[in-house]
Amino acid sequence: MSLENKKILIIIGGGISAYKSLDLIRLLQRKGSVVKVVLTKSGKKFVTSLSISSLSKNKVFEEMFDEKNNGKIDHISLSRWADLILVVPATANFMSKLSRGGADDLASTIVLASNKEIFLVPAMNVRMWNHKATQKNLQNLSDYGYKFIGPENGEMACGEYGKGKMSSPRQILSFIKNFFEKKDLLRKKKIKAIITSGPTKEYLDPVRFISNESSGKQGYELALELSRLGVKTTLISGPTKINFSNDLKVKKVISANEMLQEVKKKLPTDIAICAAAVSDFKPIIIKKSKIKKDIKISEIKIEKTPDILSFLGQNNRYRPKLLVGFSAETENVVKNSYKKMHGKYCDIMVANDISKKDIGFNSDLNEVTIIEKNGKTQKIKKSSKKFIASVIAKKIVEKFLINEKKIN
Ligand code: C5P
Repeated sequence: MSLENKKILIIIGGGISAYKSLDLIRLLQRKGSVVKVVLTKSGKKFVTSLSISSLSKNKVFEEMFDEKNNGKIDHISLSRWADLILVVPATANFMSKLSRGGADDLASTIVLASNKEIFLVPAMNVRMWNHKATQKNLQNLSDYGYKFIGPENGEMACGEYGKGKMSSPRQILSFIKNFFEKKDLLRKKKIKAIITSGPTKEYLDPVRFISNESSGKQGYELALELSRLGVKTTLISGPTKINFSNDLKVKKVISANEMLQEVKKKLPTDIAICAAAVSDFKPIIIKKSKIKKDIKISEIKIEKTPDILSFLGQNNRYRPKLLVGFSAETENVVKNSYKKMHGKYCDIMVANDISKKDIGFNSDLNEVTIIEKNGKTQKIKKSSKKFIASVIAKKIVEKFLINEKKIN
């Protein structure tokens, strides 16, 4: 059921395992998926266009600029058509090309131009896989948000043994079946999530404000990832420089009070994630005109902003089914965050150590520990905020579905 009518675009790379992609096409079609195939120049050395088109019942795409296409741009139309893009096999060379953003043929251009989920299925010799360059590319590609299926351990076509063997067509099928099953389930259940992110600005007068350095990137990436997984997501963001994707529902706010009002408008919600670095203090009065420098400092009165996470945690009527907080700490990070999780009545706390350089605030990188109420922790080592978002989102969705099962 989950693969029925799903549009799968398969890119066949140039490796000995390319022949297995034919089996995959057959398996997908038996499940009711519609398959289109892009055959790379080196892929053509291992499988023929004729065998693919006979199996897929569709034209095989090979050329970047096809004159017979009446001006249609394949790399855009194919990537918009697909529900999912699979690269089978993903060779070391193709991974390297994607890692540096190369786009010199139809396959790589489709991937670069895509707005869809992309799964790479690597296949190569064990030494090629273990080579630092490939491992660096793997890290890079994960950071860009590509997902990987395999490789497995086993005997290779060259006779050597180790990691690098391509996952079998059945393993690939089960992986993507799982992906769509979860997505369809979340869509069917119409799961809703709100995410607060970015800083808030608390104005004293028309030009001065209290704020912080938060870039809002982690919350934004998390919102993108959750909606990709099938959750109806709204991002409530403080002022940031992010150029938000049109695919995401975003409510822009300035102050903590505005953020709280937007959150209230969205209740009830199934999942709430408070990733915003809400300014802790705000002036009691916002002056309409610029405050003169000779003002007595004691005349500027400040008060605490509302704590949105605690408000949600203690909300008897509308407490979200799953409530997630973020915790930035400089020492005893896990211990202090665990305490904070209980203090703010949330279910999961994502902790990061802001004493470390190049991660967290205003950076594209982060390093976090996911802490659950039962004390279970999961550390995610330094990676891009996109990658970290994908791990957190997966955890949140899994936890949510487990809780739902327990209730029903
Ligand atoms: O107490 P602290 O600011 O360290 O707590 C951080 C967590 O609380 C984050 O999830 C943040 O979004 C949330 N928070 C909030 N409203 C505030 C302050 C923090 O929702 N006024």
